[in-house]
Amino acid sequence: MNAPDRLPASPEPHVMKTYGRLPVALSHGRGCWVWDTEGRKYLDGLGGIAVNTLGHAHPKLVPALTEQIGKLIHTSNYYLVPLQEQLAAKLCELSGLTNVFFCSTGLEANEAALKIARKYGHDKGVERPEIVVYEAAFHGRSIATLSATGNPKVQAGFGPLVEGFVRVPLNDVAAIEKVAAMNKNVVAVFLEVIQGEGGVKPTTIEYLKAVRRVCDANGWLLILDEVQCGMGRTGKWFAHQWAGIRPDVMPLAKGLGSGVPVGAIVCGPKAADVFGPGNHGTTFGGNPLAMRAGVETIRIMEEDGLLANAATVGAALKAGLERELAGIKGVADIRGQGLMIGIELDRPCGELLGRAASAGLMISVTADKVVRLLPALILSADEAAQIVAILCPLIKDFLAAPTAATPASS
Ligand SMILES: Cc1ncc(COP(=O)(O)O)c(C=O)c1O
Repeated sequence: MNAPDRLPASPEPHVMKTYGRLPVALSHGRGCWVWDTEGRKYLDGLGGIAVNTLGHAHPKLVPALTEQIGKLIHTSNYYLVPLQEQLAAKLCELSGLTNVFFCSTGLEANEAALKIARKYGHDKGVERPEIVVYEAAFHGRSIATLSATGNPKVQAGFGPLVEGFVRVPLNDVAAIEKVAAMNKNVVAVFLEVIQGEGGVKPTTIEYLKAVRRVCDANGWLLILDEVQCGMGRTGKWFAHQWAGIRPDVMPLAKGLGSGVPVGAIVCGPKAADVFGPGNHGTTFGGNPLAMRAGVETIRIMEEDGLLANAATVGAALKAGLERELAGIKGVADIRGQGLMIGIELDRPCGELLGRAASAGLMISVTADKVVRLLPALILSADEAAQIVAILCPLIKDFLAAPTAATPASS
């Protein structure tokens, strides 16, 4: 029996109401384009929130995954899964790190990283290990990862939160040096290289270098959450590589499997042996289908030069947005790198999501005021120009119309 392709009259009476959804039901996609069940076409500027690295129905990925599904989808981690070693070796080659643990999502990767940090601390005699985290950070929605997250909206209603986090402002070297001087329980720093949900806020290269230095000086682990900004999105395999540093632990997910759920922590020598047998595990992590998705995603990215594409098309997209929105009152900032771009407005702009969908464009709005673009890394220059052509008039109209949310002029 085919899966139902059309929305029933009353949409989703049995699905829990955890998402504020638009009334658009998607049917299929190709490249950077998606169609809904009514036949309307959308340019996908969101890529499933930085997941669809290769876009939709990629002609090289589909046959590879179809073959894998016909051979073996899942076994268990009681037996060797040769594709795990293949993907792990590749991730180590690309990152300069040494060992990988596989899971299925970003929060799971971050949970594993937090467990490593705590055990690393206990192993060296710190009884109550603490971890430095950041204002406006987002690391997931499990109890531990939402506790590490720096967004009161994500945490509200879920207390008591997990203890053992010390929060500092982003890009403030003096603040982290002060923590190092005052708090001997700290064992790790946990940091997004570009804050995604927090509003596409980049960590500066100087700050990344400084944090690496502080971690080395104090024997801390540097954990860089590249769940959203990693896997080629910024034009390098991993966003921290722009700073020429290496983390000790790097959580990955989202773009790693091009839509098949794959998560990982990639570890260097200080962290790779912290977990021993029985310390961590997951049923789905590293299954043959997920591993094949990771292996093929990276192979196709290399074959098709998608890092360079992300850098050049991303730069063209940002330049187009800057050109079209130059001098527009209400546009506070346009920032980001490669195909991770945020346009910060001076007011909440969630309604742009629906307006964009009506105009045939998929985007996201995060941190209330930031329009975010995370398209597939196969985006062409022409498609980037189409995003600019659809989005900028919407933003201008939105900012021109007085709304309840418009700040009073002084
Ligand atoms: C930086 C970062 N870390 C972790 C997560 C959580 O990933 P997941 O939704 O797969 O659990 C996200 C999700 O947006 C993220 O952006």
